[in-house]
Formats: sequence, structure tokens, C-alpha cells
Amino acid sequence: MIEIGCPTPDDTRSLARRLASLIRPGDVLLLKGHLGAGKTVFAGGIAEGLGVQEQVTSPTFVLARSYEGFMPLIHADVYRIGSSAEIEDLDLLDEAAQGALVVEWGDVVEQQFGEDRLLVEIIPGDDDARHIRLIPHGSWADRPFGEVLA
Ligand SMILES: Nc1ncnc2c1ncn2[C@@H]1O[C@H](COP(=O)(O)OP(=O)(O)O)[C@@H](O)[C@H]1O
Ligand SMILES: [Mg+2]
Repeated sequence: MIEIGCPTPDDTRSLARRLASLIRPGDVLLLKGHLGAGKTVFAGGIAEGLGVQEQVTSPTFVLARSYEGFMPLIHADVYRIGSSAEIEDLDLLDEAAQGALVVEWGDVVEQQFGEDRLLVEIIPGDDDARHIRLIPHGSWADRPFGEVLA
């Protein structure tokens, strides 16, 4: 587990942007944190790191949006989805097979997203600060986090 302090939204975005350089096609990142924690800010940083030109907005009401960068990015928010069956119906893993899948509230049904996943936990700190924990599973455990986060 790696924990990084992010005092401002820009720090959160920049951390995500740097982390994006570790992403390979087929990767899954699950974003955990309360409403307003910064999950969408983080997803925006990932998009920027993947070369997406478009502005990333919250997919809360549409459930998922796709973007074109160096690889496709699927950005989903499963907050409003009632059951794991419904999440399965979205076919997010198939949809994002050739790209990156970033799921806000994905931690709630973590197992559903397979063995290889990066759990990103956003924890509130003093004032606006956030502590961001990166918890790698499967192949993520061998990625060179130190190189991109230094
Ligand atoms: N250190 C920080 N990191 C991320 N967001 C922050 C931080 N400090 C303040 N914020 C603000 O918190 C809000 C996070 O919103 P958002 O990313 O939409 O949250 P979520 O998707 O988790 O509900 C934004 O308005 C952002 O500017
Ligand atoms: Mg959000």
C-alpha cells in the first residue's frame, strides 16, 4: 500500500496524471471515497495522463462515458446502481477490454472487476487535503510506482 498526501485538487489531479503512465490496455482502477472526496477529479487526471483532450465530467447520471486518448478510457460511476447484476449488465469490462476502466464507487463490488485491479482510496484530511491510498492487486503489485510518483 502506498499513501500520498494531496493538499489541493491540483495535487490529486497531478498524482492521477502521473499514475496514468503505468496503465496498460485492459486495466481496471476502482475509486473509493465519500461523495465529494475527489474521485471525479482523480479520474480527470487519469484522462489527462492518457492524452484525452476532452474535459471529464461526472458520469453519475449516465453511468459510463467513454473517451479517446492513447487508448480508450471508460469512466463509470456505479453509485446509483442497485445490484451487482445491474453492474454486470453494463459490460464495463468488455467495453474497456482494449483500454482503461476507471470506476467510481467500484470498491463496493470490488471482486466483480477481476484479480488485476488498483484500488484508489481517497481519505479526507485537514482542510481540503486528501490522503490517497493506492492498493495494488494482482499484476499491479509489480508496477514501478516509485518511478512515476517520485
Ligand atoms: N485535495 C483535494 N483533492 C481533490 N479534490 C479536492 C481537494 N480539495 C478540494 N477538493 C474539491 O472537492 C471536490 C471533489 O469533487 P469530485 O471529484 O466530484 O468528488 P467525487 O467524484 O468523489 O464525488 C471538488 O470540488 C474539488 O475541487
Ligand atoms: Mg464523482
